[in-house]
Amino acid sequence: MPDNPTVRPRRLRATPALRRQVAETRLHSADLVLPMFVREGRSEPTPISSMPGVVQHSTDSFRRAVSEACESGIGGIMLFGVPETRDAVGSGATDPNGILNAATRIAVEEAGDALTVQTDLCLDEFTDHGHCGVLDRHGRVDNDATLKRYRDMAVAQADAGSQILGLSGMMDGQVAATRDALDQTGHPEVALLAYSAKYASALYGPFREAVDSQLTGDRRTYQMDPGNRREGMREASLDIAEGADIVMVKPALSYLDVLADIAAVSPLPVWAYQVSGEYAMIEAAAARGWIDRNRAILESVTSITRAGADTVLTYWAVELAAWIREGK
Ligand code: PBG
Repeated sequence: MPDNPTVRPRRLRATPALRRQVAETRLHSADLVLPMFVREGRSEPTPISSMPGVVQHSTDSFRRAVSEACESGIGGIMLFGVPETRDAVGSGATDPNGILNAATRIAVEEAGDALTVQTDLCLDEFTDHGHCGVLDRHGRVDNDATLKRYRDMAVAQADAGSQILGLSGMMDGQVAATRDALDQTGHPEVALLAYSAKYASALYGPFREAVDSQLTGDRRTYQMDPGNRREGMREASLDIAEGADIVMVKPALSYLDVLADIAAVSPLPVWAYQVSGEYAMIEAAAARGWIDRNRAILESVTSITRAGADTVLTYWAVELAAWIREGK
């Protein structure tokens, strides 16, 4: 071995200009989607204590936030409704004047062609038991009865103008069922984003506050076991075969192996959802001065992109877009 190495990877790390020149992963605003919460019956936005900086919007604050999102250059917004009343079958989800469908109309009107308006297609925000589907007489989530509700929900959301429906309920056959419902009702143009590999994760904790979730217990009979990597690919393959337009992995940072597996073979766009708990962990540590907030945010979203995500759903989408614009 000579004392002086001839191969020197550090050569390309010497200056900011060199590092920028050889960067393998770049973030683009169009590849970011902002999840947003809209709450029924409030005139002011309501803060979410476990997600500092994120609110349940009132109709007015929602309208302003949509316009801000449009100006930021992000690719889309994903809407969640927080209804005032709930029942066993989640009637608010299919009511054309239910909070999510009403918010969708506002967003479509406000956004025009500036970004895509996407909606969460799941019953959990609307049911009084908090599960993602309807229950059978034993209290178990009834897959096929839930598909009927999802079909109606898909049509209601398409009627409201949603362009991409986010299927987050993890029911078997939900992609095929909603595709069929949309095609039969004159909505062939509405796209389906399948939350294909969605794991039963502790990282959804703050989201439960964000939507005033009524859930007791867990979702392990429909969401996936965090240890199952191969099964993530199986779920994505099924959704592709059923006619999904986009597949997604969720949460993001703890599941980069699953994301990379799917991204390596998927003929469809592959997205990832950086969920509420991922947001809360960074914000909480940064608030204590334990990590550098902005660097941690950039590193996390860059890592998710590096692993194979074409688009990232993140509560920091608008802030990230500003950093990208400023060349940070
Ligand atoms: C289900 C849904 C959830 C999230 C998105 N869609 C909650 C769950 O599955 O328990 C979580 C998103 C987040 O934690 O940021 N409607």
